Amino acid sequence: MKIRAAVLEEFGKPLVVQEVDLAGPQAGEVLVRLVACGVCHTDMYTASGADPSGYAPTVLGHEGAGVVEAIGEGVTSLAVGDHVVTLFSPQCRECVHCVDARTNLCLAIREQQNQGFLPDGTTRLSRDGEPIRHFMGTSTFAEATVMPEIALAKVNPEAPLEGAALFACGLSTGLGAAMNTAKVTPGSTCVVFGAGMVGLGAVAGCRLQGAERIVCVDMSDERLELARGQGATDTMKGGDDVVEKILEMTGGFGADFTFEATGLVAVMRQAVEAARMGWGQCTVTGVAGKGETLDIVPRYLITGRRVAGSSFGGVKGRDGVPALVERWMAGEIDVAPFLSHELTLDEVNRGFDLMHAQDGIRSVIRF
Ligand SMILES: NC(=O)c1ccc[n+]([C@@H]2O[C@H](COP(=O)([O-])OP(=O)(O)OC[C@H]3O[C@@H](n4cnc5c(N)ncnc54)[C@H](O)[C@@H]3O)[C@@H](O)[C@H]2O)c1
Ligand SMILES: [Zn+2]
Ligand SMILES: [Zn+2]
Repeated sequence: MKIRAAVLEEFGKPLVVQEVDLAGPQAGEVLVRLVACGVCHTDMYTASGADPSGYAPTVLGHEGAGVVEAIGEGVTSLAVGDHVVTLFSPQCRECVHCVDARTNLCLAIREQQNQGFLPDGTTRLSRDGEPIRHFMGTSTFAEATVMPEIALAKVNPEAPLEGAALFACGLSTGLGAAMNTAKVTPGSTCVVFGAGMVGLGAVAGCRLQGAERIVCVDMSDERLELARGQGATDTMKGGDDVVEKILEMTGGFGADFTFEATGLVAVMRQAVEAARMGWGQCTVTGVAGKGETLDIVPRYLITGRRVAGSSFGGVKGRDGVPALVERWMAGEIDVAPFLSHELTLDEVNRGFDLMHAQDGIRSVIRF
């Protein structure tokens, strides 16, 4: 079939919205008609050419939500008409990682996905017979996509899909960092560095876990206000004196749980140093620049602080995303403040401009 899609033709250049060919789903694959898709930093990062593992031409986009239009042979967990959220982090439920509660890093299709292919090593996307690669296994800046069954989460059909799309990446990452990776405990003190989509999700996750005090640190007053709306009890401007201020607020000890959601290694260090001696746990979610390293004075570790990274918030997508969507539907998570701008597919590059200007939390493309 012919679909309209935003193609990354050349690194550092705007995406080109055009007609491309999409073949039908093969065994184990599903055709999804996209309804909404968020525009995320990872798309912009890849488009810029800064990501050394990037490839072109490819159809970008990974925060998709839509409706199943057709299923391939052997697909049993999804049916035509189901509402789904796309998963760049799949869940096969069979690999050694999927059957272990400690990680969400499914091993089933990693290699092919990283290279822009579907699990059988080919693409369904093409133009004039030339293959176009599938970005992050999702390629959701498009009217439709073909994805593996194991990379689609079936969600409550009553959930509006433009909100559901946010659970495909940043929001679940933040929520999951607090709920799965750190396992924030009731009554605890938490500090979240960064109040973008991920940090605000972490604030909400700390609240859902019953944290007593949630301090959010950011450079933007507007974003700190959003953090209050998600449950932050205190807010603070970022800067060199933040660790000192947090120690002052916590009787000199630091916080039980800290979260980094900025991608800045200097802030990651602050998050480690703001964690309490004895048991403080720092969870890193930000993606640092190529070649950057995190500097930690070992004494911080010897005296009982722990540091953990979190990919997609440790969420096993097919089980975890529908459960988070249910909590949204139950009124426990407030998604509306994150939906800042609605765009058409043709306006996708404007989504990058808005992100660059830090205008709003998420721009969402409506198809
Ligand atoms: N681990 C994962 O699976 C995963 C998934 C999605 C995104 N990410 C990464 O998470 C990070 C955050 O993503 P986002 O979409 O929320 O980004 P964002 O750019 O919207 O938010 C980052 C925030 O950090 C703030 N900030 C900048 N300097 C600061 C400082 N010194 N102290 C405190 N705050 C400061 C900014 O004001 C901004 O609000 C990025 O690095 C992104 O690549 C990781
Ligand atoms: Zn993303
Ligand atoms: Zn797996």
